[in-house]
Amino acid sequence: MQVDGKAFRTIWLAADGRAVEIIDQTKLPHRFEIAPLKNVDDAAHAIKEMLVRGAPLIGATAAYGMALAAGEDASDAALSSAYDKLHATRPTAINLRWALEEMMRTLSPLPQAERAARAYARAAEIADEDVEINRGIGRSGLPLIEKIAAEKPGETVNILTHCNAGWLATVDWGTATAPIYMAHEAGIDVHVWVDETRPRNQGASLTAWELGHHGVPHTVIADNTGGHLMQHGLVDMVITGTDRTTASGDVCNKIGTYLKALAAADNNVPFYVALPSPTIDFSLHDGLRDIPIEERTGEEVAMIAGRAADGRIETVQLVPDGSKVANYAFDVTPARLVTGLITERGVLAANAEAIAAAFPERVQAAA
Ligand code: MRU
Repeated sequence: MQVDGKAFRTIWLAADGRAVEIIDQTKLPHRFEIAPLKNVDDAAHAIKEMLVRGAPLIGATAAYGMALAAGEDASDAALSSAYDKLHATRPTAINLRWALEEMMRTLSPLPQAERAARAYARAAEIADEDVEINRGIGRSGLPLIEKIAAEKPGETVNILTHCNAGWLATVDWGTATAPIYMAHEAGIDVHVWVDETRPRNQGASLTAWELGHHGVPHTVIADNTGGHLMQHGLVDMVITGTDRTTASGDVCNKIGTYLKALAAADNNVPFYVALPSPTIDFSLHDGLRDIPIEERTGEEVAMIAGRAADGRIETVQLVPDGSKVANYAFDVTPARLVTGLITERGVLAANAEAIAAAFPERVQAAA
């Protein structure tokens, strides 16, 4: 997508053909900085410390992390250690494990001398595939927005989103944002309510930044505002992303998503979840019981960073000294609250039958 008139992806191979470059998302929205990943430790650090984040981008970075590892030592032992190191970075987004397994499946049968080149090629394919999948999600979701626009001619279509499931969370396009970008490009009058998404503020910092750079009208709201907006008819639909969706359609996403789904159900607002198929965990059926929920440092809740009037980035404390804090990073929205899953193969009902019918080869592979 566009940053000041220049097309960017979130991750790409550096000019030397070995290192990888990323947009350092910890610096946004106040600074646009590119960071190099020179080895598997850099890749693991970038995922863990959230220089890159968002389920699909975590997967693509892990794939490139395996390529960086293979470039240094392509032995079975080195690849297996790289797998473990990358896998330990973040527990919830299933795209991480999906990408690592895909890389291992590709590399393990090859002679050692061929592995590095194939690893870089497969990582690039995974990145390209993500872009195409997200384009497909956009195509699947666009008619939902067109239908709402047709039902209220001359009026704005208001879409609420949570966290950042935009192009910054993927390689390009985003998942939740792909239909929105396509609607905007098709001339539909869309406006996005952007949940700030405490504690790390991916909505306020990242979604607002990318929508702004693309010229999509949006308004940042405090996380608790969505219910009020829905009660007053100011939200036509919700579209969120997901870090892991079970085979039966339970959706795990950024903390607070569940509360938006409850409010949407109470107000008859359609609640859609956009996801690429690698985000479906076909081995799990009960999201509440089985999806591991990341708990991050309490500092993310206790402290907040922002730009001071003189331009310096400052971090300040929000809570009293001594107060305990808890930081659950994700929650699970049961399938019954999900109106539909927007995938690259169409909009599916959030149930096991519809998901299995759309992705039979994945069901077979998981059996
Ligand atoms: O903790 P993050 O920023 O990695 O969480 C991101 C989200 O929760 C996104 O909604 C999800 O990964 C979907 S990304 C297309």
